[in-house]
Amino acid sequence: MYQIKNESDYIKSYKASVEDPKLFWEEIAENNFTWQRKWEHVLNFDFSKPEFKWFEGAQLNITENCIDRHLNDRGDKTAILFEPNNSEEKEEHITYKELHVRVCKFANVLKDQGIKKGDRVCIYLPMIPDLAIATLACARIGAIHSVVFAGFSSSSLAARVNDAACKMVITSDGSFRGNKCIDLKSIVDEALDSCPCVERVLVAKRTHTDVAMKVSRDIWLQPLLDAAVAVCPIEIMDAEDPLFILYTSGSTGKPKGMVHTSAGYMVNTAYTFKNVFQYEEDDVYWCTADIGWITGHSYIVYGPLLNGATTLMFEGVPSYPDWGRFWEIVQKHRVNQFYTAPTAIRAMAKEDLSHVTKYDLSSLKLLGTVGEPINEEAWRWYHKNIGDEKCPVVDTWWQTETGSIMIAPIPTAVKPVPTFATLPLPGIQPVLVNADGEPIEADKTEGNLCIRFPWPSIARTIWGDHQRYKDTYFSKFENCYFTGDGAIRNEKGYYRITGRVDDIILVSGHNLGTAPIEDCINEHPLIAESAIVGFPDDIKGNALYGFLTVKSPVNSGEEKELHHQVNQLIRDKIGPIAKLDKIQFCSGLPKTRSGKIMRRILRKIASKDAENLGDTSTLLNPEVVEQIRDNAL
Ligand code: WTA
Repeated sequence: MYQIKNESDYIKSYKASVEDPKLFWEEIAENNFTWQRKWEHVLNFDFSKPEFKWFEGAQLNITENCIDRHLNDRGDKTAILFEPNNSEEKEEHITYKELHVRVCKFANVLKDQGIKKGDRVCIYLPMIPDLAIATLACARIGAIHSVVFAGFSSSSLAARVNDAACKMVITSDGSFRGNKCIDLKSIVDEALDSCPCVERVLVAKRTHTDVAMKVSRDIWLQPLLDAAVAVCPIEIMDAEDPLFILYTSGSTGKPKGMVHTSAGYMVNTAYTFKNVFQYEEDDVYWCTADIGWITGHSYIVYGPLLNGATTLMFEGVPSYPDWGRFWEIVQKHRVNQFYTAPTAIRAMAKEDLSHVTKYDLSSLKLLGTVGEPINEEAWRWYHKNIGDEKCPVVDTWWQTETGSIMIAPIPTAVKPVPTFATLPLPGIQPVLVNADGEPIEADKTEGNLCIRFPWPSIARTIWGDHQRYKDTYFSKFENCYFTGDGAIRNEKGYYRITGRVDDIILVSGHNLGTAPIEDCINEHPLIAESAIVGFPDDIKGNALYGFLTVKSPVNSGEEKELHHQVNQLIRDKIGPIAKLDKIQFCSGLPKTRSGKIMRRILRKIASKDAENLGDTSTLLNPEVVEQIRDNAL
């Protein structure tokens, strides 16, 4: 059974998926996709290695499933509906037939430029059709795409390009975001000064700004596309061949290149897209994420196209030209399913309601959220003002590592409850585990959220560092995958995600590790030490508070300058999303006797909850805490 149409379908499917997971996924795989060869084994796995193999022996190409197989029935249907940053620029409808030609041409360009199966290609593009087309072109020829969000700085880009040893970078002259025009190509140039692995840079034209082209490395994309052959046979991929690498922040050190493979990712994203969004043939579906994040990979590109959907791609931001932009687009394209992040909802809820009421939102059938916990107030605002109290608000919990949605109310089966992601999708077996690693079976409980059985789109490894994959996700608790999130389970078995239990902070839904930001700050010649913690923010969910110590005393004017320099450093090294909202200069940081910074105390101070600091008996320097508390911002 592919589509869950009511509660009893859900109950039946869920039960079947737990009793015989292999049979459950095999039936879905068998009946809904085009395979070049069928599998020999549905699943082989070993949590201790860890190793997960789905549909071993099968051969396929995901783009045949996303595009070619729709050509007969849906050739003239819009596959990608592109809405530009500037509302006066015309939108673009790319039909399945056109998408086929554009992906084939792009794939031939990649081949002509020396890209082969298994090569890594970094894509650093704004939200323009070429971004989706480039990812699909890579997949068509078996190259592994590594999309890097085009808001990342040159050093973040360089780190990702080098980690995967990418041979090629695909970028554009510039990008439009609201009233800004960003010079992407020069960011790439700066990054590539330290990336000897890159042989070729393809440059799309978007902003038509003047850019420097490095002879023998950089080529304009369009003339190559114009000259390319419009047919490109698919590369036959083994089920477990890597499809893409996508980086996510770690709580320590460099970003983790999560590796997703072909068959399992395909089956899982397609199935969850259909069921969570209940997509019907003529619907227009819109996810506002950027393809630089997993949400964009799975639910702008792959999931929708696998289902033959019309997927809207928006280049701009919710506030440009004004805060009504999202709703103007919903009205203009009669959007049926709308999927966004709590941060965007909270930002819009702060603005005048006339930005919403001006538009006809009656086409909407379903509203989704993702990326961070949604607070009740934001949920209700969304439900009432956008969904007219008719559309279910589907709170979807999942991660870059999980590849597809894991816990969410399937709207035909489960009535959504504010702040709860509710029940696991079929095939997903969550478990709450206490600090000793024991599963807590009782309803109404709280613990570390783990998943105790593999699902097809689980990331298979961290690129180049399987040990880190094992240490991060499979070592803290035995025989399960540890998510890094805490959760509550209520008496109905519904899950509510409470937030990260590690040193990752979600700022506007972006995962930021504290260690990489601290490492970056500590590079400043005047800074001795730093500790970053999160504190609640009305719009962003969390904001960043930095406690910094300096090597020699500075006066208040110098502090101001230092504040500016620290944020500039973060902007250059990581990207603007990691800038600190508050910086407090201190004479020392609270430490345990073994020299570890007591972040728990700093978190309480930053959250203005410093009345009771809990157990401070292991503190080496209590006087510092007093000082920090007295000067807190
Ligand atoms: C958080 C995004 C609460 C969570 C798809 C997770 C959520 C991290 C939700 C993954 C949600 C995501 N409710 N928290 N509905 N969705 N998160 O890798 O902490 O960018 O571990 O994947 O975001 O973020 P990532």
